[in-house]
Amino acid sequence: MNYTIGVVGLGVMGSNLARNIGRQGYSVAGYDIDSEKIHTLVESAGDDIPIVGVASLSELVKILVIPRCILLMVPAGEAVDNVIVQLKPHLEKGDILIDGGNSYFLDTEKRSKVLEEEGFHFIGMGVSGGEQGALWGPCLMPGGDRMSWEAIAPIFRSIAAKAEDGQPCVAYLGQRGAGHYVKMVHNGIEYADMQLIAEVYDFLSCGLELSASTLHEIFKEWNAGKLQSYLIEITADIFEKIDEETNQPLVDLILDEAQQKGTGKWACQNAMDINVPVPTINAAVESRILSGLKEQRLQVSQWLKGTQNKISGNSQQWIEAARDALFASRISTYAQGMALLKQASVEYGYSFELGEIAKIWRGGCIIRASLLNKIMAAYQKQPNLVNLMVDDEFRVELEGCQEAWRQVVQMGISSGIPMLALSASLGYYDAFRSKRLPTNLIQAQRDYFGAHTYRRVDREGTFHTYWK
Ligand code: 6PG
Repeated sequence: MNYTIGVVGLGVMGSNLARNIGRQGYSVAGYDIDSEKIHTLVESAGDDIPIVGVASLSELVKILVIPRCILLMVPAGEAVDNVIVQLKPHLEKGDILIDGGNSYFLDTEKRSKVLEEEGFHFIGMGVSGGEQGALWGPCLMPGGDRMSWEAIAPIFRSIAAKAEDGQPCVAYLGQRGAGHYVKMVHNGIEYADMQLIAEVYDFLSCGLELSASTLHEIFKEWNAGKLQSYLIEITADIFEKIDEETNQPLVDLILDEAQQKGTGKWACQNAMDINVPVPTINAAVESRILSGLKEQRLQVSQWLKGTQNKISGNSQQWIEAARDALFASRISTYAQGMALLKQASVEYGYSFELGEIAKIWRGGCIIRASLLNKIMAAYQKQPNLVNLMVDDEFRVELEGCQEAWRQVVQMGISSGIPMLALSASLGYYDAFRSKRLPTNLIQAQRDYFGAHTYRRVDREGTFHTYWK
């Protein structure tokens, strides 16, 4: 039998994608260096799903329909290059390789160039949605050779999540590393949204002393309103989970050190490279790094006592204010992420359609949220919108939430609750709407100590002053 697609790497994501593809009726051949994983996949697929396991890459290549389509689901980095090197001698020109891992987009750029020169086709595809998403409907963000993508797209459209309007959460996003770039920005927004939710949790639990079960109710209610999203939904579930051994909310027993695999950091690093401010994403990455300094934090906490101030006022009003602060911060975060995509489109020639990206993020991925319907509509209406925050709908939303947003940040700060991401989101809003920033002084200082020159508001030219 000739199999339609090969999957290399049968970890959680690879095996679940293989099952998902098989369930749609496409025949799949799976390979992993760990034979146990091949066995588990074939066993779990049963007789109805057309999946076979093979013992080597050469065997895999032999049983695939030509041109071959091989999905690589191996860890980002060296492993991708290693598999490509091992596969190449067995491939023929015209075969299509798809990297479905969280690869760095510049690695995808390099691989695309080399493989296309050798006559192969390469698709870098961001995959979001975790274990369950891979099995039941992920969001897929492909980039690379368009013709090859069109040839294999029906497979991926069939397995992708469907948004509420039935549209599949997959779209061709652009040349070379475009798909992995979009996935990197997705992850930057994911980190930022998680950090914002965590800060609001801190405000409610430490500041207002609300219990996990009350937080469960609050987040459940929020998930039925304008904050509706996957991350709010799972947060509500998390607050409900009781540890069986201790009978306490499990969340209270989890060590407060966040880990990361680097995709959020890449988003910040690249944003710096191409001159796009993403303060909430930066704050989120830095907060994870800070959380990891647990030993140092424990020592320092003995000496720096901070403030004894408590949150004063009506709890219900603060809960509502926290909801609005979170919503406004989320808009600010998306505005930063979309601005990053817009600039990357110019820098790397990706021709991104921001409305299309918002459209596919509406389902399957970790950042799926009802807000994305409005973001999609905003960019469909005005593809060159200068910033998401100035869209008519978002302008009104931000104005409506502004007071609460400021009050929550002020109250958090005055009671000693770290608000790196909430305040960064508000700072972005305030800085972006400023006709004038205090950077005239920075220019003066640069000129003072380094003769770096400055420009003036009242005449053309470049100036230098002997300041003293
Ligand atoms: C997704 C996620 C996923 C990512 C995890 C872990 O879209 O499904 O972004 O790809 O690997 O969220 O990321 P960190 O370990 O860096 O938090």
